[in-house]
Amino acid sequence: MSMEGSVKIPEDEAKRQFYYIEKCKEWLDNERLRLGRPLRMSVQTLGCQMNARDSEKITAILEQIGYESTDEKTADLVLYNTCTVRENANLKVYGRLGYLKKQKEKNPHMKIILCGCMMQEETVIEKLKKSYRFVDLIFGTHNIYKLAELLYTQINTETMTIDVWKEADKIVENLPSERKYSFKAGVNIMYGCNNFCSYCIVPYVRGRERSRKPQDILAEIRKLASEGVVEIMLLGQNVNSYGKGQEEAYPDFASLLEEVEKIEGIQRIRFMTSHPKDLSDQLIEVLKKSKKIGSHLHLPVQSGSTDVLAAMNRKYTKEQYLTLIRKIRGAVPDISLTTDIIVGFPGETESDFRETISVIEDVCFDGAYTFIYSKRTGTPAADRKEQIPEAVKKERFSVLLEVIQRVTRTAMEKRIGKTVTVLAEEINEKDDNLISCRLSGNAIVHCKGNPTLIGQFIEVKLTENKGFYYMGEIIP
Ligand code: 5AD
Ligand code: SF4
Repeated sequence: MSMEGSVKIPEDEAKRQFYYIEKCKEWLDNERLRLGRPLRMSVQTLGCQMNARDSEKITAILEQIGYESTDEKTADLVLYNTCTVRENANLKVYGRLGYLKKQKEKNPHMKIILCGCMMQEETVIEKLKKSYRFVDLIFGTHNIYKLAELLYTQINTETMTIDVWKEADKIVENLPSERKYSFKAGVNIMYGCNNFCSYCIVPYVRGRERSRKPQDILAEIRKLASEGVVEIMLLGQNVNSYGKGQEEAYPDFASLLEEVEKIEGIQRIRFMTSHPKDLSDQLIEVLKKSKKIGSHLHLPVQSGSTDVLAAMNRKYTKEQYLTLIRKIRGAVPDISLTTDIIVGFPGETESDFRETISVIEDVCFDGAYTFIYSKRTGTPAADRKEQIPEAVKKERFSVLLEVIQRVTRTAMEKRIGKTVTVLAEEINEKDDNLISCRLSGNAIVHCKGNPTLIGQFIEVKLTENKGFYYMGEIIP
């Protein structure tokens, strides 16, 4: 046991963090009295689903401390959970910091916190230390669970507090948890990535692959089901390698899915992301048999050229990818397939690019996230001499977008006139007479409907194809 004053600080990590939550809460209660009003926070999330889930955990800790949510303009605490997968994400954070600096000058007690992937980069930390001294607290991706402890340290030292770890020490279970939606939830099944695609910074900032124990995952999902959650999204950078390389005998991802399927109350199961090289026949079998798994696979291809794929260290060829797609469609004919594509990877020739276009047309994806290659310091591709000029990248990107739009529209057209089961998710942002619902295949359909339907599975007829979403009518 460590000691602080005469009080014993618990050794168990979750208990230790609840102890620090209490300590921060005492401080916050005093602040509330001093200011004569509640203290407010704004948690901003950049990047992927993993970050979104991390932000739910962060929000839960800050809520337990006593912060109320507000917008960035009126917040006493602003936290940015950052992304660094592309250069633009970093630039955005520096831009926001310029704005926050002014706000803090007016409001000196304000706390500015940065965490997430971008903080795992040494060059970023150096820059923040040198030119952004007004940031109060910085931590990375591996010690989110320590937020209360770090905040408490910052409060007591009143200096820029930095705690970024190179690797994760452990997976801490049973911390506070907050969910954005009451009826659907993301559940981490693994953290990190071992693939080292040559363009990608994720393995450096999120560390090696670590799987959560199946019993912990299943217990979390059972609890969510008992609280009324009907849809879950299993999250990992590479879910298909779930369970690999663990000391205990672990099931593979397909067996985990079968276990999740048995949980009563859960009506739909989603997962992402799948790496094509690890997608097993067992998984395809489970997809085929399952009554609950959404009819959707997000299967990033990245490029259609075998040469570029080799340079990217993706470990499959164009032909292997296409064979895999045929196998999946053979087993689950109406499955929705979505993908990620990068253009302008170093050395990509016109002919490589045409191969990418031909794969897109061949597969006829239901959707695609498209990216211009962005050089990330420290990754092998960044050191390659044959970087593609910006103008060429942009030109290829606009061709790519045009092809994707056409292909997606064609893929979506197949479902027009069909009645499908969808999950009503939210009131439409632009028109509050509409509710936005999600198909099993992940596409969105907007339809006239009562907001009381939100959180329920309903039957909707797809009437109009809008290119990347549908309009529909609820079948009573
Ligand atoms: N440049 C452009 N896109 C990238 N991605 C990952 N790293 C880079 C990069 N350096 C894309 C990949 C990945 C998605 C999450 O982001 O397509 O699948
Ligand atoms: Fe990055 Fe490749 Fe890992 Fe995906 S699989 S996170 S692209 S290294």
